[in-house]
Amino acid sequence: MYKSKITGMGMYVPENEITNRDLTALMDTSHEWILERTGIESRRHIKKGDGNTTATMGVKASRIAIERSGIDKNDIDLILFATLSPDYYFPGSGVIVQKELDIPTCPAMDIRNQCSGFIYALSTADQFIKTGMYKNILIIGSENHSGGLDMTTRGRGVSVIFGDGAGAVVLSRSSSEETGILSTHLHSEGKYAEELSLIGPSTRRWVPEIMAANDAEDTSYYPYMNGQLVFKNAVVRFSEVIMEGLQENQMTPDQIDMLIPHQANLRISQFIQKKFGLTDDQVYNNIMRYGNTTAGSIPIAMTEAWEAGKIKSGDLVVLAAFGSGFTWGSALIRW
Ligand code: COA
Repeated sequence: MYKSKITGMGMYVPENEITNRDLTALMDTSHEWILERTGIESRRHIKKGDGNTTATMGVKASRIAIERSGIDKNDIDLILFATLSPDYYFPGSGVIVQKELDIPTCPAMDIRNQCSGFIYALSTADQFIKTGMYKNILIIGSENHSGGLDMTTRGRGVSVIFGDGAGAVVLSRSSSEETGILSTHLHSEGKYAEELSLIGPSTRRWVPEIMAANDAEDTSYYPYMNGQLVFKNAVVRFSEVIMEGLQENQMTPDQIDMLIPHQANLRISQFIQKKFGLTDDQVYNNIMRYGNTTAGSIPIAMTEAWEAGKIKSGDLVVLAAFGSGFTWGSALIRW
């Protein structure tokens, strides 16, 4: 069996910064409420007409990741695109990246696992590399939330949390036995499928009927979140799936050099940090600046942590995510 390792990373966020105070002009909320509950101070939103989409932000992050990996774009054997906000209902965003990068016929596939999407994609890529089927896989996590949020008081419980952005990595066959992905761990619990969901654009409803109704009050086109249920499950599942990874590798929490949690909520990250006895330097958070960018959050945070010199050769890096589905997962990487 081969091993896989991350050989290049990149990220892109739109320039348009939306602070908590900017949101108070749109809805009944406050900087203090948002900061206290979530740790978020600002987020980036695509500005209408700035050319950014889920796929094109993914392309920007990918170009950086590919360049840093040192491979030629034509050596990419597979494109995996994790998102809950694809440019189109179909086809997926992976093929749009392929078109923009001008890569002729490699397979491209979308992964629809929301906040855990990047971990699911990383795990999928790892399996393809382990078996020897592929050598270089481009993995993207990208979201355009802002175009689909209810930016009024009615939607404030959800809309203050989410931001736009993309991260990408190149995962390649490793020549080293010691470094690379050690293991990945995936879980889902479909009984909570509707507790964090966007059910409006659905094949359960006939499109002509929806169009005829033309109902501006139809909130099913906005995301729904049972915030407290998500919070309670997140803290439990994050902890479990990190522990599962450590146990599989006969490791203990004190061996973690860097934990990069999906940026769901700073309070969730802080809970996990405390639970595993990690210092501020051992957990990377940037939700304060970007909000929750769902599938984009881990590759964005990992890129920033690496750029800041916080991930060094030999480090044990742990990635973990929880979100809609419910789905959750972790990955242990020896850098
Ligand atoms: N600004 C001001 N008030 C707000 C608000 C906002 N943006 N959003 C909700 N409120 C109000 C509610 O209307 C409610 O008012 P009421 O008591 O008069 O009815 C009150 O604040 C409390 O709402 P509640 O939803 O119970 O707040 P909470 O303490 O559960 O915090 C979350 C809400 C969303 C911050 C919290 O549940 C959470 O972080 N959940 C996890 C979310 C998450 O991680 N999602 C990503 C998953 S990957």
